Amino acid sequence: MATLDLNMDSHWLPFTPNRHFRKEPRVFTAADGMVFTTHDGRQVIDGISSLWCVGAGHNRKPINEAIKKQLDTLDYATAFQASNDQAFLAAERIAAMAPGDLNKVLFCNSGSEAADTSLKVALAYHRARGEGHRSVFIGREKGYHGVGFGGMSVGGIPANRKVYGTALLPRVDHMRFINDPANPYIHNREPESQEDYLLELEQRILPLHDPSNVAAIIVEPIAGSAGWYIPPKGYLKRLREICDKHGILLIFDEVITGFGRMGTNFGADYYGVVPDMLNFAKAVTNGVIPLGGVICRDKIYDAMMKTDAPEHVIEFFHGYTYSGHPVACAAAVATLDLYQKDALFPRAAEMGKVLGDAFHSTFKGLPNVIGIRSLGLAAAVELAPMAGSPGKRAYDIFIDCFKKGALVRPAGDTVVIAPPYIVEKSHIDTLVNTLADSIRAHR
Ligand SMILES: Cc1ncc(COP(=O)(O)O)c(C=O)c1O
Repeated sequence: MATLDLNMDSHWLPFTPNRHFRKEPRVFTAADGMVFTTHDGRQVIDGISSLWCVGAGHNRKPINEAIKKQLDTLDYATAFQASNDQAFLAAERIAAMAPGDLNKVLFCNSGSEAADTSLKVALAYHRARGEGHRSVFIGREKGYHGVGFGGMSVGGIPANRKVYGTALLPRVDHMRFINDPANPYIHNREPESQEDYLLELEQRILPLHDPSNVAAIIVEPIAGSAGWYIPPKGYLKRLREICDKHGILLIFDEVITGFGRMGTNFGADYYGVVPDMLNFAKAVTNGVIPLGGVICRDKIYDAMMKTDAPEHVIEFFHGYTYSGHPVACAAAVATLDLYQKDALFPRAAEMGKVLGDAFHSTFKGLPNVIGIRSLGLAAAVELAPMAGSPGKRAYDIFIDCFKKGALVRPAGDTVVIAPPYIVEKSHIDTLVNTLADSIRAHR
């Protein structure tokens, strides 16, 4: 790679092996549609929607224009004790897209903040109803809910938790992971499983804590960051029933599955299950400007508003300086308009099948391939780990693909492709063939 004319002494990169990065920097300087330009003038296809964000592709004029217009109209306004017009418009729009009575939107700026916000809402809601003893949270092994202390605690990716010791929340438990080793090839449909992955919740976890103490269960409908692990058929419906039976709130973390990835508005729509809270971020603004949020069912908001406190008293002591930032909210409205105008969610569903077919027809039987999972517009190929070096094979393949012009995502020993919804078949072919070459070269 050409030498980079940037001082790299100050920027500490997140979730990145910084020492290796300095030796082989990967720096984007421009993007348009499906393609980045790098610092050394190369073109790289965005095979991961830039961390699941850029559903409509890069440099979309309607979003850019909305942002510019908003900057010239109302750049920022305090979020507390007053608000701005764009926040109401975006909230109305998002609530209208959400299923059931998920009608109340609490804005924040990221998926991590959404996770912590939803956990705090759960505690506050139960307390408002006189059930303040409900303080146990249940997540799932390999779940990812961001990097705040709440999200990290209910999260289940060991490396993300390992060094935080007792700073993690107490009274958190984790359900078992949903991967079925007997069923490693999942091709564009929900897998069937002989295993009952919720039996442990019912028979061990809930009795251990007593269900009456449990505030909420939080899951990603599909485990995205872990490597696109798809729950067996009926899993989320049964989880909903278990929560209902015990008065436990069900939180769907839809930071990845929200806004089109499954070809539907939300994973909740895909699975036909309405959670009590739905967390979103990323694709809501096409990734262009940070925005996240929690959509709550009416009963949650209503319980919090039903208080004997005088009217000048705040009902929920929580919020961020940038909650409902007008520029981010204007970007969200423009993004959601664009998704609708260009029918990008149905397109995601259609191209997801093309991607899944390409994965299964290309990767099956290649060296070290031990699983392939596709559903929605995302697919994963799982590789046997290198002896003694977990994660290295997928990382090496990621680096190699990048050099060959394809941005893919390593997750443990899995490599994921989740392109923007505007992806064409030719991009999928290039991404998949590049990845296949790389898998062959890294035996
Ligand atoms: C399901 C899920 N929740 C939360 C987050 C954290 O989002 P952020 O990085 O915006 O804090 C992510 C990020 O990938 C995610 O996939």
